[in-house]
Amino acid sequence: MKDSSKVTKIINSLKSGIVPSENFREFLVGRDDEKKELNRILDNIQSDVGSIKFITGAYGSGKSSLLKYVMEYGGNNNFLISKISLDRGFKFYKLEELYYHIMHGLYYKGKNVSFDDLFTIWLDKVKEDKNNKPYNYINNLIKEITTYNESFGRVFFSYIRAKISNSEEEMKVMSSWLSGEPNIPYKIKEKYGIKGSIDRNNSVDYLKCFCTLIEILGFSGMVILIDEVDVLLDERSDLRQKSFVGVKGFIDMTVNSEFKNCGLIFSGGERFFVDDKGVKTYEALMQRLSYTEFTEKAGLMDYKKPVMWLRNIDLDSYYNLGEMIYTIYSSINDINLKISVPSVVNWVFLEYKKGKREFRDLTIRDFLIKYMEILDIISQNPENKIYTYELEASYNGREMKFKNRL
Ligand SMILES: Nc1ncnc2c1ncn2[C@@H]1O[C@H](COP(=O)(O)OP(=O)(O)OP(=O)(O)O)[C@@H](O)[C@H]1O
Ligand SMILES: [Mg+2]
Repeated sequence: MKDSSKVTKIINSLKSGIVPSENFREFLVGRDDEKKELNRILDNIQSDVGSIKFITGAYGSGKSSLLKYVMEYGGNNNFLISKISLDRGFKFYKLEELYYHIMHGLYYKGKNVSFDDLFTIWLDKVKEDKNNKPYNYINNLIKEITTYNESFGRVFFSYIRAKISNSEEEMKVMSSWLSGEPNIPYKIKEKYGIKGSIDRNNSVDYLKCFCTLIEILGFSGMVILIDEVDVLLDERSDLRQKSFVGVKGFIDMTVNSEFKNCGLIFSGGERFFVDDKGVKTYEALMQRLSYTEFTEKAGLMDYKKPVMWLRNIDLDSYYNLGEMIYTIYSSINDINLKISVPSVVNWVFLEYKKGKREFRDLTIRDFLIKYMEILDIISQNPENKIYTYELEASYNGREMKFKNRL
């Protein structure tokens, strides 16, 4: 990685404990089993086996990082990703808005895309086929979509017609409607002969239609990512219950493969499962997630279960991460490290232990923040006397023991 401003951005993200936006996959350590399971989910989605996953764990354990992994891996494998943010407007008790939010959080190969972009991507591919005219493809496409849902099909047809004839305004109106825009003025709708709009009943139908469309357009499928689901717990109690019902409904439809080639990955803090206000209050959802406290307490890992509980990564993974970060850190900072990188990593754990926090209670974010702090201290104080001792560490599953090598 040569570009120093890129490196600075990565370092700054790690210092503040957030997921770097670029070159992120290089730094993901200790999550091979989780990645394998998420890849399996994506394979299922591609084979039209509707699948769900709920990633949970302590704050800073790496939940959003795994969603980011899905986003990158999925994008590279021709999946469309939709990222829904619960703190930016979507409420699970307002399912009529689901389609709108899915359509407004679309990503393809890491880039935010609109309905129109998707169609253009498809059209460019179609044009490459020298044996078949785009016209034939378009005709088939409209036929299939109209058979599936007439009103969606009709607007889709108008959209294509407007696009071909370069009628900018009409094309925008049609693609807004197809993207679930609820506030298209009546006058405009009348001008272009559009009837109806999105409501609680047809929101789900349009989503079904859209999933069929993207399958025909040649995408592997769509993965819907919903981060920080535990914010549902902060809703008023009646709305919270309604939200649980919404989540359950969405899970059922996905698992029944009602949306073609579509899967759902949630993530949220463990309070969603352990808090008294959490999913415990709604047995039906709890069963869908087949979460049992017994499995959890017994420490048994079953990655194929709907809930993926993130454990701490092992010591070797921390050493690995420490080495990778040190390599980029030292490429943009003057640092005269007199001890080995594993020793600096062990110093992180010793500092926490002094503050009465054991290795087993630390998250990856805790580690990163302290590790970066120590590198900064060493870099700014070349004559420091503390971090000049090699430090060995061993962990017996309960506590970490340290040995100074002078
Ligand atoms: N497996 C990993 N390998 C390397 N770095 C990781 C890994 N998992 C997480 N991180 C880093 O740890 C920090 C916290 O990760 P992340 O934001 O994914 O955690 P989170 O569980 O989503 O946190 P929160 O509960 O606050 O939402 C980020 O800087 C991220 O880059
Ligand atoms: Mg997060």
